[in-house]
Amino acid sequence: MTRCHIPIAKPNISERTKARVMEVLGSGFIASGDEVRKFEQAFAGYTGATEGIATSSGTTALHVALLAAGIGPGDEVITTPFTFIATSNAVLYCGARAVFADVNPATYNLDPEAIRKAAREHPKAKAVLVVHLFGLPCDMDAVIDVAAEYGLTVIEDCAQAHGALYKGRMVGSIGLLSAFSFYPTKNMTCGEGGMVVTSDNELAERCRLLVNHGSAIRYQHEILGYNYRLTNIAAVIGSTQLEDLDDFIAARSANASRLTDGLSGLSGVITPWVPDGCRHAFNQYTIKVPQGREDLLKYLEREGIGYGLFYPQPSYKQSLYKELGYGDSYCPVAEDLSAQVVSLPVHPLLDEWEIDRIIEVIGDWTPNKG
Ligand SMILES: Cc1ncc(COP(=O)(O)O)c(C=O)c1O
Repeated sequence: MTRCHIPIAKPNISERTKARVMEVLGSGFIASGDEVRKFEQAFAGYTGATEGIATSSGTTALHVALLAAGIGPGDEVITTPFTFIATSNAVLYCGARAVFADVNPATYNLDPEAIRKAAREHPKAKAVLVVHLFGLPCDMDAVIDVAAEYGLTVIEDCAQAHGALYKGRMVGSIGLLSAFSFYPTKNMTCGEGGMVVTSDNELAERCRLLVNHGSAIRYQHEILGYNYRLTNIAAVIGSTQLEDLDDFIAARSANASRLTDGLSGLSGVITPWVPDGCRHAFNQYTIKVPQGREDLLKYLEREGIGYGLFYPQPSYKQSLYKELGYGDSYCPVAEDLSAQVVSLPVHPLLDEWEIDRIIEVIGDWTPNKG
C-alpha cells in the first residue's frame, strides 16, 4: 500500500493573494510603502490595539518591542524556556539577561507563581515576556497581578497566537507591547514578517524609528535603529491572509475538536487542555506522550504522518545559553514536557479523512491497544 504524507504545516495562499501580489509587483512600489501602512492598521485593528508597526520577522518584532519598552544592558526579563529560541534571543539582543521561569504542565504556558518566584529572586527584572504557546493564551489576569506587584512591564509574544482570545480580549491587546510572526507555519503568513502592536502612541513612534534606522525624516537619524522594515509585497500577502484569518482559525478549531474526540479515550496520549474563558487558536495541536515517545515518532514516520517536536529542550539547555552561563537554570516542568510533547497536523488544509487517518494511526500504536 502506498502511504500518503500528511504534513505538519501548509500555508494556505488564495488566488486573491496571488493576484494582489502581482498588482504590487506591477506597481513598482515593492519596498515599504502604502501597502505596509494599510496592513499595519488592519492588523492592529484586528487585535484591538490602536497601533501596528510591521517588521521583517517575528524575531525583529520582539527585539523592537523589548527595546521600545526600555530593556537594555544590565536589565533582566522573565520569560519561558519552553518556546522557540527567538523569544529569549530577543532579550539577549538588547544586552539584557533572560530569567527562565517554569511553565504549567497542563497549559505549557508560564506559571504565574513561577514568575512571582523569579521576580522575588531577581530584583533587576524589568519585564515579563509571556508566550501564548501553540495558540493558547496565558493566564493573563494572574500575570498582570504579579507584574503589578513587582513593577514588571508585560510584553506578549503572540507569534503562535493570532486570533486567540483571553476572556473575550484578543491576545496582543493585553500587554504594553506585543509581537506577532507571519512565518509560513503560523496562523497567517506573509512569507517572512512580523508586527508589533500597542495602544501607546509614544511607544509606537519609538518602534517606527527602531525599524527604520532611527529615522522619521529622510536622512535624519534620531536614535540607533535597524532596517527591520516589511515590504509592500509581503504586506499584501498579510492583508489578504488577515481577511481569511477567522476562517483559518475556525478550521483549526474544528480539526482540533475532531482530533480530541478521536484521541481522548486512548491511554497512551494526553490531549490539549483549553481552560474556560480561552479561545485556543491551535497553531499547534500538541499531545503529551508520557511513555514511549520515540517509538510513536518512528511509527508516525512509517505511516506518513507529519509531526513536530516543539520543543525538544528548554532554551537554557542550548549550547549558546550554556556558554552564556545559563547552566544553573532548571525548570522541571519544561524539561518533562520537552521529553513528552508531539505536535500533530491541525492546519486548515487538512480534510476529515486525513484527521481520521491520524487518529487511526495513533489508535493502532501498541500502547493505546493495552
Ligand atoms: C514563540 C515564537 N516567538 C518568536 C518567533 C519568531 O518569529 P519569526 O520566525 O517570524 O522570526 C516564533 C517563530 O517561530 C515563535 O514561535
